[in-house]
Amino acid sequence: MSTYKEVKRITTHVLHEMKARGEKISMLTAYDYSMAKIIDHAGIDIILVGDSASNVMAGHETTLPITLNEMIYHASSVVRAVNRALVIVDLPFGTYQGNSIEALNSAIRIMKESGAHGVKLEGGSEIIESIERILSAGIPVMGHLGLTPQSIYKFGTYVVRAKENEEAKKLIEDAQLLEQTGCFGIILEKIPAELAEDVSKSLTMPVIGIGAGAGCDGQVLVSHDMLGINNDFNPRFLRKYHNLYQEIYGAVGAYIEDVRSGDFPNNKEQY
Ligand code: KIV
Repeated sequence: MSTYKEVKRITTHVLHEMKARGEKISMLTAYDYSMAKIIDHAGIDIILVGDSASNVMAGHETTLPITLNEMIYHASSVVRAVNRALVIVDLPFGTYQGNSIEALNSAIRIMKESGAHGVKLEGGSEIIESIERILSAGIPVMGHLGLTPQSIYKFGTYVVRAKENEEAKKLIEDAQLLEQTGCFGIILEKIPAELAEDVSKSLTMPVIGIGAGAGCDGQVLVSHDMLGINNDFNPRFLRKYHNLYQEIYGAVGAYIEDVRSGDFPNNKEQY
């Protein structure tokens, strides 16, 4: 059995092997060079340059406003930092739905201009032509089903998806379609744990969950949420590994005090 230190570079092939061996896959978001460097060095398997950058980096209420150029900027910063992880980039809202040629052009721009290793798209059968066309260019594609934040105005709320039979059936069919079409993996967001486990067991491609329970082949979180930088977001599925908001708040407060009192800089901190 190989450990993360033995694997030089994570590829979609390595992820399939990990699933086959029953090894769980770890995934986090990053949007900038410094954070990506730490996360990659720590041994994460996949870094997602998520369109959650729209909320986390730019302060928008939803993921809809972020542009392709902005995603490429974030992705190229991340790629420059990464030695080991697979870097996957979200195609932003409005760059792939309803027009497979535009989808291919958007994906090609991401791959060419950022150096990322693949793209992620939200949706199932309704975007399958776009996925097929992107795959035909040799670009690895990850699917995203369940709560798909780019459709928030259709859903009207961020509550758990696919609790009812009809939506669960459509999700299962979409997951199978994405695998048959050639996606290398999917994200399942905020759906019942039992459903996510059934889907994971029925597929050979890795299924990465967020708010989808322990039965998935791996887990993804938004790094700013799990580090506790974002104080206001506390869903049930989120485990906070730190309270960086408090740490940074405290450090900035101490700096302000030192500057105001004349304590900083001292003799050793000047030329
Ligand atoms: O944009 C994002 O960060 C995502 C994750 C929540 C899966 O899509």
